[in-house]
Amino acid sequence: MADRSSVSQLFAPPARVSDGSFYPSHGSYEKMYAQSLENPEAFWGSQAEVQIDWFHQFTQVSDCDLASGMVAWFLGGKLNVCHNCVDRHLSIRGDKVAILWEGDEPGDVRKITYRELHREVCRLANVLRHNGIRKGDRVAIYMPMIPEAAFAMLACARIGAVHSVVFAGFSAEALRDRIQDARCKAVITADEGRRGKKTIPLKRPVDEAVMACPTVEHVFMVRHTESKVPFYEPRDIDLGEAMKNERPYCPVEHMDSEDTLFLLYTSGSTGKPKGISHTSAGYLLYAMLTHRYVFDYREDDVFACVADIGWITGHSYVVYGPLANGATTVMFESIPTYPDAGRYWDMVERHRITQFYTAPTAIRAIARLGDEFVKRYDRSSLRVLGSVGEPINPESWNWYYNVVGEGRCNIVDTWWQTETGGIMITPLPGATHTKPGSATFPFFGIVPVLLDDQGNEIEGNGVSGLLAIKSPWPSMARTIQGDHRRFAQTYLDPFPGYYLTGDGCRRDEDGYYWITGRVDDVINVSGHRMGTAEVESALVSHPGCAEAAVVGFPHEIKGQGIFAYVILKEGFDADAELIGELRNEVRTHIGPIAVPDQILITPGLPKTRSGKIMRRILRKIASQETGELGDISTLADPSVVELLIEKRKGL
Ligand code: WT7
Repeated sequence: MADRSSVSQLFAPPARVSDGSFYPSHGSYEKMYAQSLENPEAFWGSQAEVQIDWFHQFTQVSDCDLASGMVAWFLGGKLNVCHNCVDRHLSIRGDKVAILWEGDEPGDVRKITYRELHREVCRLANVLRHNGIRKGDRVAIYMPMIPEAAFAMLACARIGAVHSVVFAGFSAEALRDRIQDARCKAVITADEGRRGKKTIPLKRPVDEAVMACPTVEHVFMVRHTESKVPFYEPRDIDLGEAMKNERPYCPVEHMDSEDTLFLLYTSGSTGKPKGISHTSAGYLLYAMLTHRYVFDYREDDVFACVADIGWITGHSYVVYGPLANGATTVMFESIPTYPDAGRYWDMVERHRITQFYTAPTAIRAIARLGDEFVKRYDRSSLRVLGSVGEPINPESWNWYYNVVGEGRCNIVDTWWQTETGGIMITPLPGATHTKPGSATFPFFGIVPVLLDDQGNEIEGNGVSGLLAIKSPWPSMARTIQGDHRRFAQTYLDPFPGYYLTGDGCRRDEDGYYWITGRVDDVINVSGHRMGTAEVESALVSHPGCAEAAVVGFPHEIKGQGIFAYVILKEGFDADAELIGELRNEVRTHIGPIAVPDQILITPGLPKTRSGKIMRRILRKIASQETGELGDISTLADPSVVELLIEKRKGL
């Protein structure tokens, strides 16, 4: 990738924002950052004391040793995350809107106050309890973006059950695998979801998945679209009906700081998705602090993160961070282009949204449809514009800054991961001079380093390397469900003493961090992580597929698209029907998001003499960057490269 830093502009924080913000200058950020590193125990300890409502104060701030995989924070503390997100606000913000829900149709709005949220969450928690769900039990949540999804997460937290939200775009098979891996005792779902006038079946895939999940005792279903779906009593429970029958109060479970709050599955470089495990106190504290500082959050704001709760962004910045801060958080069911590309800004105007957080892929998708869709609406309420999920290209950054934000708003390009629990590298409004395309500097207490292939730290500026984090932070993932060894092998063992992110990164002459993308076999499609091995194993389950190799390639809207090379078995023809079947195979094994954008049928793949597929070459051919293929003399059959280049041109 070209070095964008050298040509980039430097943007001072817009005056309107820096006036009232917490850190009105870069100097004060640097001072506080330095303090957070000088004495991390004092920094995190005092933050945890002030920010979290404890039932029992912790006795030790941390006990961590990255090299041995030991990470624990706020030991001995007792708290409840739901209490911190709901109950503690009742006396001062009972009538404040907690969740501002906007449905698929513009203006279809529900406003849920903190008092109402408390009652609904209590009722839902009681339903779970009365159906045998106890502290430590796992509950899968497969829901559209409706308030009940947040109620369900918070209800689990309230009774100490561990939720595992599965994105509602994943297939029945993908859902089944995740339910089985976590041994979930129940599933919470809806009849259907809605996205841009289309309905998304949910209960049906749940039924299909649960057939192979003997641990599941109950399926709780919310009636959302009210369409007729199969219903199997006594296993299935109508959640709305059951809640009516429950008392609107439910005591909270006292949880240990290190009790698991949730699992969230994400892709890795091998076929099996990993259940990333986050615990209670550290996750909550970090989600709260980052929500407050990164978005310059203030009491009267209306905060909108339009991510789905199926991803970590939805966990930390739709639900836990904003609610822990007593904010009004927007929950959005629809898509950015329904009914047209002005939908986001229509919402900004109607709800007077102050912070807006989305992914570069959404920005690209609407920017190309024209500025009129933005200018039609009043965006004067906006102060901070956030970006997450993939590197934001400078053109999109500038469009976001100039067209959407009219040069008044701070852009925060936030780098983080499912495993980090919260934002790690980011500008702070009012404090950081930004450069389009750079996530800028680390958050308080975070120590990013660049490593070479041997694990040596690369010092100084104007350097590139593997991005790693040198010291533990409270919301770091603790383990992978059922596989702590894989956790250690993936993140901690490669370079003892460091958490390895899997991203490449450059630190420019001014010390700004520029994420350059994944260095492993993970691709980033529309801001969602997808393992190439997962897509490959879906493809080879087709009877006609002998071998498959999947790589990422540049895609105008998605950032990266999925490119699949497929070798067919004898007797199968490379026709449109077969291509359709291959795509369908991926759709049923994983879901629509994983379906390859391009499938190239080939008689062979570039392999070394020892049989290893040269992915580097496949990536270049897919990207049509074949001018610089490098050394191909080690290939068993170099002629296959010419063939693939020709075939690629013909797609
Ligand atoms: C991967 C993590 C964190 C929530 C959404 C994705 C990429 C994320 C940025 C950014 C460049 C980014 C990285 C990272 N990524 N944010 N601001 N700039 N790259 O969570 O699915 O766990 O994916 O997303 O490659 O490793 P995720």
